[in-house]
Amino acid sequence: MKRVSLCLLLAGLLTGCGAGSGEGLDEQGLPSDDNGTGGNDTPPVPGSLAQLQADIFSPICAQCHTGGAAPEGLRLDSEQNSYDSLVNQPSGQQPSVLRVAPGDPEASYLLRKLEGADGIDGGQMPLGMSPLSATRIAQVRDWIENGAPREGVGDAPTSVSLQGHQSEQRVVTLRFSRAISSESLSDAVQVYFHRDGQRVLASPEQYALSLQDGQQLRIHWYLPDYPVTAAEFVVNDPAVATLLDQQHRVLDGDRDRTEGGLFRHEISF
Ligand code: HEC
Repeated sequence: MKRVSLCLLLAGLLTGCGAGSGEGLDEQGLPSDDNGTGGNDTPPVPGSLAQLQADIFSPICAQCHTGGAAPEGLRLDSEQNSYDSLVNQPSGQQPSVLRVAPGDPEASYLLRKLEGADGIDGGQMPLGMSPLSATRIAQVRDWIENGAPREGVGDAPTSVSLQGHQSEQRVVTLRFSRAISSESLSDAVQVYFHRDGQRVLASPEQYALSLQDGQQLRIHWYLPDYPVTAAEFVVNDPAVATLLDQQHRVLDGDRDRTEGGLFRHEISF
């Protein structure tokens, strides 16, 4: 099996991985597409926690509800953190009320805070901004009504972005909906270059992997010195090795809502 230099970037800690251009990724947890070349985003499954995270929590709430100093300890800065600090967790302001009571939107403090309902402590959320639209609030309500599921979100990368098109080193970022395990990483990711109609497995010197926040996998790669027509990134190929999440469950690579299945992203030149 190939060896790759696996350089783990633990939550918020940048280590010397030569990551180069990571700008734009961390502020909202959403990948940016600096130069308009990457894109190819796959939208999260409707009604899922992944979608709430992408549409509401990351872009709006995580401006404040982030890190160790998040108000009331409520962290909404990653899907895993949102789940862990919302579902079946008591409100800090009203400990007898759950933030999210699965199946019971009316009893969920989260929804009350979004609606600015009577009887809440503090302000309506998002604090100091215009309230969420009725559609957004209905999204939250539906998810809670459905039992606030953690699963069924499709664990394939929810988006892909490419950076550093001009520079020597390029970075492809895959954002997963669940935190993945670093142990399975190096075996479960392959990079191929397309050359003269053939698919050539990249050598270990041609790329390196780094993981940030458990959910963002960055593939740092270099173009080979021979002409190529495409670079291909493969994750979770059942014929090679599967990628595990932090609970040691196999990821759903092809978004069919069952474990396993291959995820592929290709960049043509
Ligand atoms: C500008 C900063 C800011 C933003 C943006 C913000 N919050 Fe808050 N949030 C706070 C502060 C400060 C508190 C505690 C004081 C209060 O409730 O007014 C709080 C409290 C809460 C509480 C109560 C927690 C508990 O345990 O009692 C919930 C729920 C909440 N926010 C959800 C959200 C959601 C969901 C969003 C995004 C739609 C959001 N907040 C956006 C600052 C913010």
